[in-house]
Amino acid sequence: MSKGPYRPKDHYFRKAKQEGLRARSAFKIDEIAARFSIFRKGQAVLDLGAAPGGFLQIIADQVGPNGSVVGIDLAAITPLGKPQVRTAVLDVLAQDFDAQLDALHPGAFDVVVSDLAPKTSGIRSTDEARSLALAGVALSVSRRKGKPQGHFIAKLFMGGDFEKFRAELRALFDEVKVVRPEATRGASMEVYLVGLRRR
Ligand SMILES: C[S@@+](CC[C@H](N)C(=O)[O-])C[C@H]1O[C@@H](n2cnc3c(N)ncnc32)[C@H](O)[C@@H]1O
Repeated sequence: MSKGPYRPKDHYFRKAKQEGLRARSAFKIDEIAARFSIFRKGQAVLDLGAAPGGFLQIIADQVGPNGSVVGIDLAAITPLGKPQVRTAVLDVLAQDFDAQLDALHPGAFDVVVSDLAPKTSGIRSTDEARSLALAGVALSVSRRKGKPQGHFIAKLFMGGDFEKFRAELRALFDEVKVVRPEATRGASMEVYLVGLRRR
């Protein structure tokens, strides 16, 4: 696809509509999951920044009815109608976040996914810093709530302290990959960092 200005009704937007997916972003997690065999039936997965629920739809299918998916966002998520999915309106920056998460799912997660994104200000350095801060919060959640040998996926905007964050991941995971999924819009600076098998 040609790189160019943001076109709201692009190929992935239409494809998502046709396939009954809530957001074009569903194709991003689908691609990452397929490339690195991330999800298995019966797993517990935490999805941070989950509204409106595109990732959740894919993850719910991949972990199946015996799995468990918890989706967190500042915005309410319309129920998916799948018993393995629970969602909650929660701020990942809230002081009582861990307590609230424990109330939803007391156990550890096999995979922690973050598609958290700040409201963009248009000032690149500010947006990069906010994106990195959210990815950092997601990483610390994954360290507290992720299982050893579990995986971590986080979106962040390239630039700023990206390399520092990647180095932090390399110290924690056996393998670290940087992915720019095909469904990412042409002009977007976003990439996903994938940490495989936390040591
Ligand atoms: C790109 S969207 C996520 C799309 C989602 N993965 C999907 O497939 O439908 C980013 C989300 O991050 C959420 N978000 C941003 N800051 C947050 C915070 N502090 N706590 C919880 N959610 C947050 C936003 O509300 C927004 O819904």
